[in-house]
Amino acid sequence: MGTQQLKISHLKVHLTDHPEVWSPLSAVEMLSFLVEHDFLDTLEQQRVLDFGTGSGIVGIVCGLLGATAVTLSDYSAIAAQVAAANAQQNGLTGVVGVQSDRFQQIPPTCYDLIISNPPVQPWLFTDLDQPDNRAQVAAWNEAGADGRLVLDALLTTARQFLAPGGRLITSSSSRHGHRQTRQLLETHWSHRWRQIYAAEHAILPDYHGPYIKIWQHLQALDGDLRIYQMDNRGQRFAPQTDTAGNPIVITELSLTGSPQPVLLRPLPAGDWSVESPQGDRLVMLSAHDDRLPGPATSEHWYYEYYLFEAWRENAAG
Ligand SMILES: C[S@@+](CC[C@H](N)C(=O)[O-])C[C@H]1O[C@@H](n2cnc3c(N)ncnc32)[C@H](O)[C@@H]1O
Repeated sequence: MGTQQLKISHLKVHLTDHPEVWSPLSAVEMLSFLVEHDFLDTLEQQRVLDFGTGSGIVGIVCGLLGATAVTLSDYSAIAAQVAAANAQQNGLTGVVGVQSDRFQQIPPTCYDLIISNPPVQPWLFTDLDQPDNRAQVAAWNEAGADGRLVLDALLTTARQFLAPGGRLITSSSSRHGHRQTRQLLETHWSHRWRQIYAAEHAILPDYHGPYIKIWQHLQALDGDLRIYQMDNRGQRFAPQTDTAGNPIVITELSLTGSPQPVLLRPLPAGDWSVESPQGDRLVMLSAHDDRLPGPATSEHWYYEYYLFEAWRENAAG
């Protein structure tokens, strides 16, 4: 086990690595943005829950910024222990580690901030008979058949654990299925949420490779692009197969004003049948129609990474 020092804006965080605990590196982008754009500058005297804490990095940064009571929770018992020890190593007191599958064992405190960088990959390497004991550390980034298990718990339940005026800050990814995320935010937080950050990332064949087929299957079902290529106008599209193995291209087209998800099926002579994700034919387009995506600018596939902030109404409503 080695130690590492991470620099997040003006803060230095010392962490002891553990081979069974998720590496803290993926949180640096999230935390750097939040610190540099003042999303974490009012934490004095606040109670914070870092949900899916891993090494503890997110909650530790909140503690270093003045939060007085920090709960570091993770389904992995080892992560909860390692995170609490890492908090001590950074001079923090008032920090507890809690083992909990989502909200199941979370103390029913009213938190001022629930913050999370939740798992995103669909189940592939998780032993579903023993989901709290994962041989490969990468499997701790798996959450449900569609990867949404932990994110959905946050979007649907975090509000009940927040003090009036309390906030949820969570990352998410197009790999989760972005439309479903926005729908849940709208349903459970009404208009009290906003997207505060978005960045494009490359799919890494060595790490993401085994999951690509699952994301392609999911997006063939609902047309919500989880991973995509781009043409030189920035139009996103996924050349792949449908659930029956036939070639399709998934993209968004403006057919009646606003962009809508569509599946494009090649027809003889180069034309395209444009269908809804449910399989209804909407229109046919000639091969030269400039609404169709052009050639991909590179062989890379991409996903988008987001940060959302949502908040509970304060006592006055
Ligand atoms: C992407 S990692 C993020 C870790 C850390 N917050 C960070 O940003 O480096 C996701 C974390 O969620 C935890 N996790 C996975 N499934 C969970 C569940 N059902 N309930 C709570 N935590 C879970 C994993 O053990 C892992 O530490």
